[in-house]
Amino acid sequence: MEGGSSCKTGGNEFTEITLRPLDLSDIDDFMVWATDDKVTRFCTWEPYTSKEDAIHFINNKVLPHPWFRAICLNGRPIGAISVTKNSGNDECRGELGYVLGFKYWGKGIATKAVKLVANTIFSEWPQLERLEAIVDAENVGSQKVLEKVGFQREGVLRKFMILKGKTRDIVMFSLLSTDPQS
Ligand SMILES: CC(C)(COP(=O)(O)OP(=O)(O)OC[C@H]1O[C@@H](n2cnc3c(N)ncnc32)[C@H](O)[C@@H]1OP(=O)(O)O)[C@@H](O)C(=O)NCCC(=O)NCCS
Repeated sequence: MEGGSSCKTGGNEFTEITLRPLDLSDIDDFMVWATDDKVTRFCTWEPYTSKEDAIHFINNKVLPHPWFRAICLNGRPIGAISVTKNSGNDECRGELGYVLGFKYWGKGIATKAVKLVANTIFSEWPQLERLEAIVDAENVGSQKVLEKVGFQREGVLRKFMILKGKTRDIVMFSLLSTDPQS
């Protein structure tokens, strides 16, 4: 377990958000968010349409990944968060990515998960000095998450990448190991 924290997620119930490695046995939970086109709208990947493809992804990309974690609510995966390593001259920076099942949006869960990563990743990877995130200019929710955690909005990269067949403006965010976190 990467650590957890109590978090109020609506209503009066108190629940715990934790991060842990995602496993093949989590496939049914993975399918909930990975097949939803509302969730993948701003992602580089298309929604999964078969369990077989999802199992292939978990086996070949998730399990060997150096830092891919399930975002768990009371121990059950409801999304995922990852930090992708660079090598050589780029090893000072890593790229953050995250995704959350639609029914859990708007409850502060992504903000909590990103804070957990920001609190641990720099000590886990001492070579990392910069955690960066690239966000579609229209993905307002994701930009707010990063700003709430203390990431700096560095600017807009115009027509930076193709998403779902269209070139998109992207906002570059970063958090340095020396930055204060909120
Ligand atoms: C982006 C995403 C992770 C946000 O997760 P979340 O748990 O709903 O975010 P939070 O609840 O922590 O919200 C943080 C802030 O953003 C706001 N917010 C969230 N979604 C929003 C939206 N669609 N539009 C405007 N504001 C939004 C929240 O109200 C909150 O602000 P507040 O504290 O001032 O009220 C989630 O919507 C998601 O998984 N989207 C699909 C995948 C994705 O886009 N991943 C990011 C790729 S860069």
